[in-house]
Amino acid sequence: MLARLRTAAVIGVDAIPVSVEVDVAPGLPGLTMVGLPDATVRESRDRVRTAIRNCGFPFPPDRIIVSLAPADVRKVGAAFDLPIALGVLAASGVLPHRADDELLVVGGLSLDGTVPPMRGLLPIAVAARRSQRMLMFPHANHSEAHVVDGLRTLPVASLVDAIRHCLEPRPTVATGSNCQDSVGIDAEGDCDLADVRGQSAGRRALEIAAAGGHHLLMSGPPGAGKTMLARRLPGLLPPLAFDDALTVTTVHSVAGLLAPGAGIMRRRPFRAPHHTASDIALVGGGSVPRPGELSLAHGGVLFLDELPEFSRRVLDTLRQPLEQGVVHIARANRTATFPASVMLVAAMNPCPCGYAGTGQRPCTCPPGAVERYQQRLSGPLRDRFDLALELPAVAWDELRAHEPGESTATVRARVVAARDRQLARQGRLNSRLGGGGDDLWRHVRTPDVDQVLGRAVERFQLSARAVSRLLRVARTIADLEAADDVTVRHLAEALQFRTAGLSAP
Ligand SMILES: Nc1ncnc2c1ncn2[C@@H]1O[C@H](COP(=O)(O)OP(=O)(O)OP(=O)(O)O)[C@@H](O)[C@H]1O
Ligand SMILES: [Mg+2]
Ligand SMILES: [Zn+2]
Repeated sequence: MLARLRTAAVIGVDAIPVSVEVDVAPGLPGLTMVGLPDATVRESRDRVRTAIRNCGFPFPPDRIIVSLAPADVRKVGAAFDLPIALGVLAASGVLPHRADDELLVVGGLSLDGTVPPMRGLLPIAVAARRSQRMLMFPHANHSEAHVVDGLRTLPVASLVDAIRHCLEPRPTVATGSNCQDSVGIDAEGDCDLADVRGQSAGRRALEIAAAGGHHLLMSGPPGAGKTMLARRLPGLLPPLAFDDALTVTTVHSVAGLLAPGAGIMRRRPFRAPHHTASDIALVGGGSVPRPGELSLAHGGVLFLDELPEFSRRVLDTLRQPLEQGVVHIARANRTATFPASVMLVAAMNPCPCGYAGTGQRPCTCPPGAVERYQQRLSGPLRDRFDLALELPAVAWDELRAHEPGESTATVRARVVAARDRQLARQGRLNSRLGGGGDDLWRHVRTPDVDQVLGRAVERFQLSARAVSRLLRVARTIADLEAADDVTVRHLAEALQFRTAGLSAP
């Protein structure tokens, strides 16, 4: 007898439909998985057999052939055990066989017949909802499935549960009720911008970066507050819209990083990988491609602390995905795609000892070390930062001052208004305005600006790229003031955030 079930695999953040066919026929007893050489599948065969027996069902003493289609997704999923086991039971007549086109089954099996939690349920749940199918899945992933409003769910903790549902399905309909993250957006708690004393230039740069979506590079001595400022950036951004939150949650689901019981992630992520991180950890990869830090930061902030300590090769692999907002990982037949639209914030000391040019303490680095240190950043990477800033040590009388600075909520209101203006005018943030293209010039240029710009190019020896960065930032500064035209004053402020001191000659 032949049984056919629907299951799914996840490649990148996309769910791919997979069909499982099981044929049970008289012959030499054994279970063959057609054309499946690799070890994970052999293990799957043993798990299926043992789980069926341990749940008190006979394992058919027949010739069993299991086939998964399409062929090239066979290796990516460990979550085929459950559909295979149900297929074996249906094909051997233990379960009444219904050609159940309405049901999608995913899940692994332990030897004792329990169904363990799995990675990447969310994209499968979304796909099941879209195709109007019921979804049978591991009970431990319950809250993830319940994000998807209207999905008919059959959570199962064991093979016995699954069999019960096959005999008499009683789906629960998800209501999307856990879409309000229990941690409120404003509950930033100990992480408010008001805690940052002084550092008016740093706070201002952070606000401009948030408003225009600009990548930001901060340089300064130890303890100046670089890390402190960076951590406060996600709070300055508008909350994630539902679709974006779903994407962010999906990436974490695929990475196996969703906290048990957590619903949708409404907070913008903040990821701060260590400088020893490999390129795979940062950008993603592996034989079964998993998202890297860049994708885990999608919709939020990727913070690279001590930027020059990262290996240059690793930083270079970041460049293209940063530009495109997406990571493609090519594998034999398919390409895994992960979202990667982030705000990049990087911090560095001016030199290895940390004090070159700060006037705070003398630099103790050997001759040439300062240049070598700064040259570890490739020019093309440096060019990604629209905003650069030298952060001085915070002065004692500012630290001592008791009146707190503006709060995150106050600044966020201005950021949100400035973002809305950009989206209404040009459909994207200023940081996405092309450098060579006309649109940057169209939205920024006035005769006034042209004149000043001409002088600035001469005086500061600005490259074409530097001019583009300057114009984007000036546009954002104008948007923060709700000004229609960029003026000389906006340009002058933008000039303060060019890569002074940090830029290659
Ligand atoms: N502007 C500030 N206002 C209030 N506290 C500050 C400020 N700057 C620094 N601090 C205090 O100093 C600590 C260290 O700051 P932070 O870690 O942000 O420095 P950093 O610039 O990242 O230094 P490093 O180069 O060593 O990483 C903070 O946890 C905070 O307690
Ligand atoms: Mg730091
Ligand atoms: Zn030094």
